[in-house]
Amino acid sequence: MRTRGVLTLLALLASLILAACGQAPAAAPTTAPATGGEATPAPAPGTLAVGIVLPTRDEPRWIQDETRFKEALTAAGYTAEILFSQGDSAREQANVESLITKGIKVLIITPQDGTAAAASANAARAAGVKVISYDRLIRETDAVDYYVTFDSIAVGAQQAQFLVDNATGSGNPLYLYAGAASDNNAFIFFEGAWRVLQPKIADGTFVIANSSEAVALQDKAELTRDEQARIIGQITTNWDFNTAKTLAESNLTAAGPEAKGDVFILAPNDGTARAIADVFAIDPDITSYLVTGQDAEKASVQYIIDGKQSMTVFKDVRTLVQAAIDASIALLEGNTPDSSGAYDNGAIEVPAVQAPVVTVTRDNIQAELIDSGYYQASDFTGL
Ligand code: BGC
Repeated sequence: MRTRGVLTLLALLASLILAACGQAPAAAPTTAPATGGEATPAPAPGTLAVGIVLPTRDEPRWIQDETRFKEALTAAGYTAEILFSQGDSAREQANVESLITKGIKVLIITPQDGTAAAASANAARAAGVKVISYDRLIRETDAVDYYVTFDSIAVGAQQAQFLVDNATGSGNPLYLYAGAASDNNAFIFFEGAWRVLQPKIADGTFVIANSSEAVALQDKAELTRDEQARIIGQITTNWDFNTAKTLAESNLTAAGPEAKGDVFILAPNDGTARAIADVFAIDPDITSYLVTGQDAEKASVQYIIDGKQSMTVFKDVRTLVQAAIDASIALLEGNTPDSSGAYDNGAIEVPAVQAPVVTVTRDNIQAELIDSGYYQASDFTGL
């Protein structure tokens, strides 16, 4: 059903582009177009007038997005250029400029740095290219047409709720880690987590072990962005495995005996969770640890099966890819994409759609990740 839906949408998209450009498709499909039945001819193969820019190949999360975009496009017999910025805003801008030069009409972009990417969005706007912010929001510009995202407040809230649900008694050491301060999502994840954790810090269930800034603000139920930034500045992993590892090591070196034993760790995503978990696992004074994650990366699903990571928040990238394609079609048609809300990017309210997220533990890997067709059981051992 999904493939047929994508096929139909992309056929429409192709005819719009070809009508708009008045020229033949430029590139052959990477595989033969799938057909929807004898009566429905497959769309002519070609290149979509859409450029996609993703932040880095160094995290499995974004390879997953690339794979899912390619699947959706290939199923319909199309290609669209996908470029990676490799954590470098200058390279991201060069990627965007090259796509604009090639004549794209829609840019789908996950900014490396939400504020730095405003320049790219402005350049796209000046060239008449519509801009879809994908997963991460471009900030401080009015040149963002649309935002497709997961429910990032829920991501943080589900991570925190898992820790709360598994904590008994009082005085439980709590280690806090966050994403990159250049990523707007890092703030939203932390906000979602703080709302759930703060009452449990205030009532003594948890004791913050690794952030004096968070301790200084622990009586505040709601934090301003500046206050969040102060905490995030102290506990940031920068979305980087090595930074996460080094920070966890230094936290454990500084921790006294009261901050060891059975501990609770808010880790912002799967890559950092694995790095942090590996550090806690070898500390002789850590009796047990629970650690959160995000993205349901294969390596972390295996960690969960092996008892080395406690949970992850599953974001079905297929849904986000579909939302981005739907929005591209609407924008190419000159229509307004459907939105279910808006996000303030510091300059405007950007119309948005928000996809749901699901907590995954050892108990529902099969139902959520295998039975849904997201992964194969053979991707894992010991399932
Ligand atoms: C994404 C996460 C990802 C993180 C690091 C965030 O903006 O929402 O899925 O793990 O960036 O790349």
